[in-house]
Amino acid sequence: MADIELRHITKTFNGVYALNDVSLSFNKGEVHAVVGENGAGKSTIMKVLSGLYFADSGEIWIDGEKKNIANVADAQKAGVSVVYQELNLMPSLTVAENIYLHNLPTKGVMVDQKEMNRKAQELLDRMHVSISASQKTEMLSVSEQQMVEIAKALSFDSDIIIMDEPTASLNVQEVDALYGIVRDLKKAGKAVIYISHRLKEIFDITDRVSILRDGHFIASYETKDLTEDILISNMVGRQISGHYTTADHPYGETVLEVKGLSKAGVYEDISFELHKGEILGIAGLMGCFREEIVQSLYGLVHPDAGKVVLNGTTVVDMEKGLNKLSTPLKANRQGIGYVTEDRKGSGIFALMNVRENLTISILDKLAKMGLVHGKDEQELLNRYTEQMHMKYSGFKQRIGSLSGGNQQKFLLARALATGCRLLIMLEPTRGIDVGAKAEIYSLLEDLAKSGMSILMISSELPEIIGNCHRSLVIFQGKLTGVLDQSEFDETLIMQCATGNQTYFTEVKR
Ligand SMILES: Nc1ncnc2c1ncn2[C@@H]1O[C@H](COP(=O)(O)OP(=O)(O)OP(=O)(O)O)[C@@H](O)[C@H]1O
Ligand SMILES: [Mg+2]
Repeated sequence: MADIELRHITKTFNGVYALNDVSLSFNKGEVHAVVGENGAGKSTIMKVLSGLYFADSGEIWIDGEKKNIANVADAQKAGVSVVYQELNLMPSLTVAENIYLHNLPTKGVMVDQKEMNRKAQELLDRMHVSISASQKTEMLSVSEQQMVEIAKALSFDSDIIIMDEPTASLNVQEVDALYGIVRDLKKAGKAVIYISHRLKEIFDITDRVSILRDGHFIASYETKDLTEDILISNMVGRQISGHYTTADHPYGETVLEVKGLSKAGVYEDISFELHKGEILGIAGLMGCFREEIVQSLYGLVHPDAGKVVLNGTTVVDMEKGLNKLSTPLKANRQGIGYVTEDRKGSGIFALMNVRENLTISILDKLAKMGLVHGKDEQELLNRYTEQMHMKYSGFKQRIGSLSGGNQQKFLLARALATGCRLLIMLEPTRGIDVGAKAEIYSLLEDLAKSGMSILMISSELPEIIGNCHRSLVIFQGKLTGVLDQSEFDETLIMQCATGNQTYFTEVKR
């Protein structure tokens, strides 16, 4: 008998099966991956184990004892702790307060602030992350917040630690730190359940792998007996060839010219061009301010010097105090669309349903004589659902309850629905499964072929190399590289991204 057993778990939402008679078992001292396509049921079964959802039927056994886990407190008592896929921190609290929110150290009836800060700092230091426990959480980047989520889960010192896509927003060093944490947990005899779409991680750090598909259990393997091909065909139930498309076609006239764009203390003297039908990558390490550069084209960050010319018209000229891209709405009107990396924070409207989420940015266009027609909305929803193979139970489903990957597809659909001609995407396939990744890539390629210009920030170099016509590289807010597709090379890009080299292509378009 395994240390942790989920037996015959079934869970439905409004009559639709999210889990259908799924049995999984885990052992202490083992890192166990749970994998599957978007919507396969990975997060749902972990929410059953962690007391967030109550299964329709099935049993949970831990250390040979049947447990009744009806809520989060029960799960904590049973030794289960979770790093959730979506961030759940309170921005106005300090890092330490967030970590110990449900577990406050007290002195008499008072919270022992000093003790709390000391313990939190000790935990963060042990994780090798340079975050101060006493700082406000809202000051942290998405990846730092993710590390705080992990610290929070570890603070309970539970025997069973579930990590739901913990690395989705981490940079290279942070992923290394996380690997260290996972190995320490394993050594300490904990059971680590690890959910990830990144196959490399699964092969790097897990001992066993269990595969779910469409709410069903498919198989469990020892990681050492597994190849990438076996894994993928088990996940998607079909063979898919090659994970990346190579977008190789000529592109047209200059659509966007960025000239000497600067923002004091953030980025400096950024100049580049984007052509019609071009997919331009932006590589760089996390914290290099590449997000801030593209956000300056969408009114989320305000530059203090430089120019932007869009389709031959100057839309930003900071010397003259001109900025026609100073808010997202204005940028939208100029034909610019934007897909955020921070799905939960600034992407979705979690409590609204999927149809409303899709059309929220184009209500004015859909409105005829002041009325929004459900029929038009539905047509649009149907179109994108089909195009992107989106999965949900009906148009009334709240978007917050969709699987992570499907939320991402909605954000892309929403940007496209605005009819934009220039699309800015941050981490386009974060949290997206292998099959859907290939779909998103071919969608981007089709969009480019139809004349869309795409600016794409990605932390996954293979994604840039496999999909972009050219790529910029940013290091500490400065442009250190412009590479043509024919010059793409991981080492060269990394050299530019770490400031060890500059490289500006000679290939002229
Ligand atoms: N609260 C909910 N209400 C309605 N449907 C839900 C709810 N939670 C999950 N679902 C549905 O259950 C199915 C499984 O979702 P789940 O979040 O477990 O997928 P996942 O495997 O974690 O996917 P991803 O890799 O995209 O995160 C999906 O079809 C999802 O829409
Ligand atoms: Mg999930």
